[in-house]
Amino acid sequence: MRSVKIIENVYWVGVIDWNLRDFHGYETRRGTTYNAYLISDKKTALVDTVKAPFQTELKENIEELSSLEKIDYVIVNHVEMDHSGALPYIMERAKNVTIISTQTGKDGVIKYYGGEGWNFRTVKTGDELKLGNKTLQFVEAPMLHWPDSMFTYLKEDELLMPNDAFGEHFATSQRFADEADQAVLMDEVAKYYANILMPLASVIIGKISEVSQLGVKPKIIAPSHGVIWRSNPERIVNAYLEWSKGATEKKAVIVYDTMWGSTEKMAYAISEALKERGVTTQFCHIRKTDLAEIVKEILDAKAVIMGSPTINNSVFPTISGFLSHILGLRPKGKIWAVFGSYGWGGGAVRDIERQLKESGFEVLEPSISVKFAPNREELQKCRELGERIAERIQ
Ligand code: FEO
Repeated sequence: MRSVKIIENVYWVGVIDWNLRDFHGYETRRGTTYNAYLISDKKTALVDTVKAPFQTELKENIEELSSLEKIDYVIVNHVEMDHSGALPYIMERAKNVTIISTQTGKDGVIKYYGGEGWNFRTVKTGDELKLGNKTLQFVEAPMLHWPDSMFTYLKEDELLMPNDAFGEHFATSQRFADEADQAVLMDEVAKYYANILMPLASVIIGKISEVSQLGVKPKIIAPSHGVIWRSNPERIVNAYLEWSKGATEKKAVIVYDTMWGSTEKMAYAISEALKERGVTTQFCHIRKTDLAEIVKEILDAKAVIMGSPTINNSVFPTISGFLSHILGLRPKGKIWAVFGSYGWGGGAVRDIERQLKESGFEVLEPSISVKFAPNREELQKCRELGERIAERIQ
């Protein structure tokens, strides 16, 4: 049996995507899951579907417990295709189904799939749907992760299904958080938060407060990716609150690229000074480290130090791309520093510094730009930059 009982009459019927390694650019080295939940009462509800290539697996999981014909409602918490991809397949086979979603969700379903002849009911925060003894309550959650997103709360069982929120890309045979390797789990939780939710920190703080004021106090949190939090769900909620407030450690991340080793020598000199002063230092050659891993390391770091060689009077393309990505993720409360090298005109350090400042980030000056290769004095300047960063982190 592949479906998994969560509580009486509520089952996980999702799928495990063991082999996923790229989720639109996010390196998912441990795969992921697409969680769907079947709730059986006088009426039957399917909460979310799965990615389209797994639609027959979803059907088989449902048929272990019921049949597609018996589904009365499909709750579309979120239209992104990892959760709605199997919707057309389900709608073709399950007659008399009503799709429950936000208005934006309905618009998205119609735009992606046509939805001709499908029944819709749109809901707003606080709306409820009686299944029999069980009641579903809905909470709009725009931008967690798309404008259409909503949470579904099973009131009597105090079970929250928040879709993308509180998830992680983690394919595992264990379905519950308390069964999983805790270090691996929290590493993936942090990576997921950093790469997907970091720019939404203020939305997350507001939503957690709003949900609490609505009287939603979940005993179980069942997200759409990864494991289900059936004991101590406060652990992940508190982790989200801490990250959203910009909590950091005594830690620096050096992100750099190098053409002929000059920028790398500078990176080593900076990192040595940091390490000598007790600062945990993560050293990331951008072409040898997963982007998602770098972003995760930045999440709880107090300092981010960026190094680039100069090419065509500007930033090396790998660092330029990373800079654009990290600026979009809007990490909070960090000190930034910049270093790099050039052959003749220079420009990389100047351009990184300018972009950081234009985005409102604090840059520790002066930055260091070295011609050709760093000599002894210039490496000493790099060490001094490391020392200044360490002083700020203390
Ligand atoms: Fe898991 Fe925004 O989709």
